Amino acid sequence: VVKVLKIGGSILTDKTRAACARNDEIDRVAAEIAKSWKDLIFIHGAGSFGHVPARKYGLPEVFDPAGLLETHSCVVKLNGLVVDALAKAGAYPMPVHPFSCTLLRDGRIERLPVAPIAEMVRRGLLPVLHGDVAMDTSRGAGIVSGDQLLSYIAKALKAEVVASGTIEDGVMAKGRTLKEITRDDLPAIGSDLGGSSGVDATGGMKGKVLELLDLADDGIDSQIFNASKDGMIIRALSGEPLGTGVRRSR
Ligand code: IPE
Repeated sequence: VVKVLKIGGSILTDKTRAACARNDEIDRVAAEIAKSWKDLIFIHGAGSFGHVPARKYGLPEVFDPAGLLETHSCVVKLNGLVVDALAKAGAYPMPVHPFSCTLLRDGRIERLPVAPIAEMVRRGLLPVLHGDVAMDTSRGAGIVSGDQLLSYIAKALKAEVVASGTIEDGVMAKGRTLKEITRDDLPAIGSDLGGSSGVDATGGMKGKVLELLDLADDGIDSQIFNASKDGMIIRALSGEPLGTGVRRSR
């Protein structure tokens, strides 16, 4: 049983301020994961460590080596904080930097070898990936969101638990949290799906839902849940339905 969990950058960082980590939240999330990380692949968002430099350099529309260097270095710093917190909490986290191993085409992952990641899991290590910049065969370079990584890896490894933790209770439409969303629901609620508070280069809630609907089209259900409340990550990892389930259309 492979599980893939993404925790959004808005939990781990202050998305309105450049490279501003929420250390208490990083420690809390790490402590929860360290209680139930068997067979887990963990992906964290970039938060203000990624979106602020990306916007400063006009990524991904502009190809800018200085911008790539600064953005990648910055998200690697956040990854270091997360890996350290997980190790301190008792797990064996191993960083996997998407920039070093992912090839995009038109902003979509074309290649990302998952065999090393699967092998880490098999041997009791915890791979820790993150939203990042990556080379793109059609545009020079692009941005790969944690949610695209979540969807790609869950599909490649046929994950049984797929969860994306955010600061919201799930997908909101018409003022309430949806129990479930399928592609058929999109026309009715599409315009309700918000972006994100703070700076965001990867589409906020809407981008997240679209990635997970792609995954649902391939027969893998997932959920979007509120990871800012104590205990929710452990519950999500146990497979308990929380927040909004993203499912295939019937
Ligand atoms: C974005 O990653 C990566 C960069 C901007 C370089 P995510 O899209 O996964 O980050 P969050 O969860 O929105 O912070």
